Amino acid sequence: MKTNYFTLITGASQGFGKAMAIECAKRHMNLVLVSLPNTGLNELTDVLEKNYNVSIVSIEMDLGTSENCNSLFEKVKKEQISIKYFINNAGVLSRGFFKDLDTNYILDQISLNICTPTLLIKLFLNDLKQNAPSGILNVGSMASFFSLPKKQVYGGTKAYLLSFSRSLRRELQPDNISVSVVCPGAMNTSAALTYQNRTVSWGTRMSIMNPEDVAKLAIDGLLKGKEVIVPGIVNQFFMLLNSILPKPVKDKIIAVEINKLKGEMLYS
Ligand SMILES: NC(=O)c1ccc[n+]([C@@H]2O[C@H](COP(=O)([O-])OP(=O)(O)OC[C@H]3O[C@@H](n4cnc5c(N)ncnc54)[C@H](OP(=O)(O)O)[C@@H]3O)[C@@H](O)[C@H]2O)c1
Repeated sequence: MKTNYFTLITGASQGFGKAMAIECAKRHMNLVLVSLPNTGLNELTDVLEKNYNVSIVSIEMDLGTSENCNSLFEKVKKEQISIKYFINNAGVLSRGFFKDLDTNYILDQISLNICTPTLLIKLFLNDLKQNAPSGILNVGSMASFFSLPKKQVYGGTKAYLLSFSRSLRRELQPDNISVSVVCPGAMNTSAALTYQNRTVSWGTRMSIMNPEDVAKLAIDGLLKGKEVIVPGIVNQFFMLLNSILPKPVKDKIIAVEINKLKGEMLYS
């Protein structure tokens, strides 16, 4: 059964974004998929349209600038598409001590992880109001909650998304627009991350999930209007530990982690 409404997903051609696109298509949700140019979006679109009988509009665009966010909005309007669910997934990770990170990379990361989702929500807010009950899903991270060595800027951008989502949720409640944030732990979303995830500590390894399983929980959470979605029992256990451990114990754990990381390569 096809509906007239569309769900827009940014960063949809691979990794977690692709997994959410597949999950939405399985639920017969029409899609606007946005990804960087030449990342295989057209192939994904073909497969989803053929297998799940959904309408898909694919748009290849770098969302790292406000000009491009504006032109994405214009393109969607031109297609006369009505957005009911908006999923802000595009985002980049950095790993390294702050003193070693490239300044331009830091600024680009803040722009893509913070400015882009904020501007896109602002642009599409009227659509969401008109199609209420509707929903926004922002992709945070477990790094939204924790102070993590070598992930200070990334964690900061994800903490912004958590705080922004919670506040906006309260503001948009009268308009019947639900705002959710999903905070996954480590996922095997690429060959590089899968390799890297094999080298982490036992506790973290236990928490690693497949993007397909996280996507199912994330879309369930979006459709049910859940405020904060923490996928997986191990991640939920980490949250519990974080709330009960005394600060000196947490500081000690982080100090040990920093010492372990000192010898590692930048962006490892
Ligand atoms: N992997 C993890 O362990 C993990 C854990 C927690 C949270 N997350 C979050 O989940 C989201 C997806 O992560 P991932 O691991 O699947 O992806 P990834 O491999 O880190 O790739 C980054 C994602 O952002 C998109 N992207 C990057 N630069 C872009 C730009 N300039 N314009 C538009 N899109 C851009 C890419 O989309 P296209 O290639 O399709 O264009 C890709 O989907 C991110 O927000 C990430 O922070 C990931």
